[in-house]
Amino acid sequence: MDEKRVRKAVFPVAGLGTRFLPVTKAQPKEMLPVVDKPLIQYAVEEAVAAGITEMVFVTGRSKRAIEDHFDVNYELEADLEAKGKTELLEMVRAVLPPGVRCIYLRQGQALGLGHAVLCAQPVVGNEPFAVILADDLMRPVAGGTAVMAQMTHLFGQHHASLVAVQEVPRTETRAYGIVGGTPWGERTERIRTIIEKPEPEDAPSTLAVVGRYLLTPRIFQHLARQTPGKGGEIQLTDAIARLLDDEPVLAYRFEGKRYDCGSKLGYLQATVALGRDHAEIGPEFRAWLESNLGTSEGGQ
Ligand code: UTP
Repeated sequence: MDEKRVRKAVFPVAGLGTRFLPVTKAQPKEMLPVVDKPLIQYAVEEAVAAGITEMVFVTGRSKRAIEDHFDVNYELEADLEAKGKTELLEMVRAVLPPGVRCIYLRQGQALGLGHAVLCAQPVVGNEPFAVILADDLMRPVAGGTAVMAQMTHLFGQHHASLVAVQEVPRTETRAYGIVGGTPWGERTERIRTIIEKPEPEDAPSTLAVVGRYLLTPRIFQHLARQTPGKGGEIQLTDAIARLLDDEPVLAYRFEGKRYDCGSKLGYLQATVALGRDHAEIGPEFRAWLESNLGTSEGGQ
């Protein structure tokens, strides 16, 4: 097998989504729509654009809708076919492109992101793999490459684990994993230290880890030994900190824009930004923004 090829992506979707209550009480936040697609579909499309063919979902309670979304809905398809609604039919069928396989695993208890990733070990095995947090919606620059595809490309060059990072205000470091590093290449640093949710005065930098990782399978050894960290959770960040002693791990300043759709504000920003550019409703929505809010340009 080609060791450099990334074939599998893990989608940890077992979190409780407390920042988005009450909407997440009985439905997964990953199924929240941005315009007309749920967040998890954007995430899967990003993985497909990176050549990934095995989608491994780590699910939990109240997450059945995710499995249903990627299943074939025979009744719906037959109905659309009978009514000659071919465009809608194609759209429904394209939710999961041919050759892409979904695998579902359960995380019985939400013990943390690190624990969720460890749950995927039996399926991932001894291969490099992506971790995609669907609530971070990543938008490439116009005409640019999808963020995970940028990362698999880089992995092909360096064969090192990668975490996507972006600058954040120092006052916000306690919401992120923060890295400290030394220059490595274009847009990359070699991580020397990584700390989960540090106070601003303890943060080694203002470079924050966001929801895209590309990891070598060695991470599983550290996850298996990981004890609960910040918030009493098994943290992926802590296992990455141990991985630094074994092999280089790179922080990658991705090209594109991230929307934190696990938060109400980020979710609204994503909805407006993607709505403005939407092929079907974009022009009308921009006109509406302009006449009602006095703006159609310059948003995030
Ligand atoms: P978050 O930190 O966003 O936690 O998890 P959360 O529970 O989803 O949301 P809040 O903070 O309470 O609002 C980051 C990612 O890790 C997954 C989540 O589903 C999310 O994609 N996760 C987290 C798990 O799969 N299992 C866990 O035990 C914790």
